[in-house]
Amino acid sequence: MRRPLIVGNWKLHKTLGETLELVNAIKTGSENSTEVDIAVAPVFTALSVARATLAESRVGLAAQNCYPEKQGAFTGEVSPALLKDIGCLFVILGHSERRQLFGEDGAFINRKVHAVIKEGLVAILCIGETLAQREAGTTFDILATQLREGLQKISAEDMKQVVIAYEPVWAIGTGKTATPEQAEEVHAFIRSLLASTFDAGVAQSTRILYGGSVKPDNVDNLMAQPDLDGALVGGASLKSADFLRIINFQKS
Ligand code: 13P
Repeated sequence: MRRPLIVGNWKLHKTLGETLELVNAIKTGSENSTEVDIAVAPVFTALSVARATLAESRVGLAAQNCYPEKQGAFTGEVSPALLKDIGCLFVILGHSERRQLFGEDGAFINRKVHAVIKEGLVAILCIGETLAQREAGTTFDILATQLREGLQKISAEDMKQVVIAYEPVWAIGTGKTATPEQAEEVHAFIRSLLASTFDAGVAQSTRILYGGSVKPDNVDNLMAQPDLDGALVGGASLKSADFLRIINFQKS
């Protein structure tokens, strides 16, 4: 069975003081949520503060990005080795904001996936179509391409350190969620791609998260879908009450 995983992507939000407040609330509020894996991804500058609070908790630490080299003359970048050093377990890669705003392409994202796995961390590989692509009927083609590019030369063994996050771009920060049926259709498709790319075992064991306006009032219906294994939460992860409600989803 795949254990549910809920990850809060804080994006570019929260000062050190605000981080401390939020991680403390999440730590305390999640003590009894033993059926779900939980992680939060603060900004780089707040990782160390978050780590100090979360060290003895059920909440893992994730980074929002990385550079695919261990060290060197790469001004402004952070390596998976340094993220491991600070206590991260997960790294979010290929988020649509990175693809769209920072021009990251599939080959570059693939280098990051390899670098993260090599360091012993878990890559959360984000894929998703835009509204124009959905309306043009190319959703599955786009997702297949992003998945193929992101997982180039990744082995079935490596896949133990990969989580896929389906984040339709049109649902991110818009309040427009995919319906549970729309999400399930795509998740089942991604799982079938994993089966054909690797094998049935990989397809069955890989966690596929949904992201895009996940909120307390829609998480239960989304998580009731058989191929949804968790959520990558943006806006609603910035408020402890909302995030804790999402962690404590009730399959409906
Ligand atoms: P929202 O939950 O704010 O739509 O953001 C989703 C997201 O991009 C998570 O990575």
